[in-house]
Amino acid sequence: MSTNAPPPTLPQGVEIIGVGSALPDRVLTNTDLEKVMDTSDEWIVQRTGIRERRVHDPETGPNTTELATTALRRALDHAGIPATDLDLIVVATMTPDMPTPSVSCMVADNVGAGQIGAFDLNAACSGFVYALNTAHDLVRAGSHRAVAVIGADTVTRFIEYSTFGRGAAILFGDAAGACVIRATDNPNKGLLAQAMHSDASRAKHLFIPCTPRQFFESEFDERKLNRVQMNGQAVFKFAVSTFPKLIEQTLDMAGVQASDVTHYICHQSNARILTAARDRFGLKDEQFHINIDRCGNTVSASVPLILDELTRAGRVEEGQKIMMLGFGAGLTWGSSLWQL
Ligand code: ACO
Repeated sequence: MSTNAPPPTLPQGVEIIGVGSALPDRVLTNTDLEKVMDTSDEWIVQRTGIRERRVHDPETGPNTTELATTALRRALDHAGIPATDLDLIVVATMTPDMPTPSVSCMVADNVGAGQIGAFDLNAACSGFVYALNTAHDLVRAGSHRAVAVIGADTVTRFIEYSTFGRGAAILFGDAAGACVIRATDNPNKGLLAQAMHSDASRAKHLFIPCTPRQFFESEFDERKLNRVQMNGQAVFKFAVSTFPKLIEQTLDMAGVQASDVTHYICHQSNARILTAARDRFGLKDEQFHINIDRCGNTVSASVPLILDELTRAGRVEEGQKIMMLGFGAGLTWGSSLWQL
C-alpha cells in the first residue's frame, strides 16, 4: 500500500516493530580454508576472531535477493503485520544479483508488498546504517508510515579462495538482516542522533575492480578483476581510529553518556577493532556485541544480524537506547542512535 497522505503534525515518533535475518546453510570453517590456501586456524582466530562464516553457492543460492526476502519475511512475522502494510522497501547492498532491477524491487514482489516504493542503496558495510537513517527520516517527516530496511550481501562471489586472495578470503561471509520501522504517536521514540560520512581519498584501500581502468594506483592484474582488493592494514588503522571518534560524536550530538546506551551494535569487521573500541569507552561485554566468530564480516548484513540475535534473546526492550555503527568501503562510516 503506497500512501501519499499529507504529512501529519510533526514531530512523529518512529519505532522498530520487527526484525529478522537469514544465513546460507553452508558453513566455511578456518579448517576448510587451510585446505585451499596458505593459512591456519590459529592465525585467523588470533588476527580476526573469526572461526567460521556462512557462504552461499553462486549456482544454487541463496542469492542476495533470496536472503533479503527471507530476512524480511521473518521481520514481518515478528512485527505481526502483512507486507501490504509497507509503503517502502530499502535494501542496502553492494552485491545486487543484477545491476538492474534492484534487489528491493524483487523483494517487494516476493513478499507480495504490491506496487510500493523500492530502492537499493550502496554504502558497503555502512549500508544498513545509512538505509536505516534515511528510512527513519522519511517516517519522521510523515511521508511514509511503515518501511522495511534490509542489509543483504553475498560478497563471497567476489572473493579469490586461494593464497593469492587470502587477505580478504578469511574475513567475509554472506547474510541478510531486516527490520521494519513504523510511525508511532510517541514522539520520543526514534533517532536521537545520526551521522553519515565518506572519504574517497581512501577508496583505494578497499574496492572491487570490474574493468582494467579501475585499479587506482596499482597495476592491472587479471586475477584481481571482480575480486575484493583490500589493504588490510590501512583499513584496520582507519577503523580503529574512526570507531571511537564516531561513538563520541554520536553521544555528543545526543547529549548522552556512553553508559546510557544499553547496546552497541557495530559492523563486524575484526574482533580486535571491536574490542579496542569497547575498551576505549570502558564498556562491558554485554553492551558491545560480537558474533564475528560465527558469521565473519557480512558487509551490510552484519548490524541487523546482531540486532536480530539480541532481539531473539529477549535482550532488546522498550526504553533502551541502542547505537548501531558501520564502516566500510568508500570509505564510508555512519551511526544511528535510537531511543526504543
Ligand atoms: N593467513 C596467514 N597469513 C596471512 C594471511 C592469512 N590469511 N593474510 C596475510 N598473512 C600474512 C601476510 O602475508 C604477512 O606476512 P609477512 O609479514 O611475511 O609479509 C603477515 O601475515 C601479516 O600481514 P598483515 O596484513 O600485516 O596482517 P594483519 O595483522 O594486518 O591482519 C587483516 C590482516 C586480518 C586483514 C587485518 O588487517 C584486518 O582485519 N584489517 C581490516 C579489514 C577490514 O575490516 N575489512 C573490511 C572492511 S568493511 C567493508 O566495507 C567491506
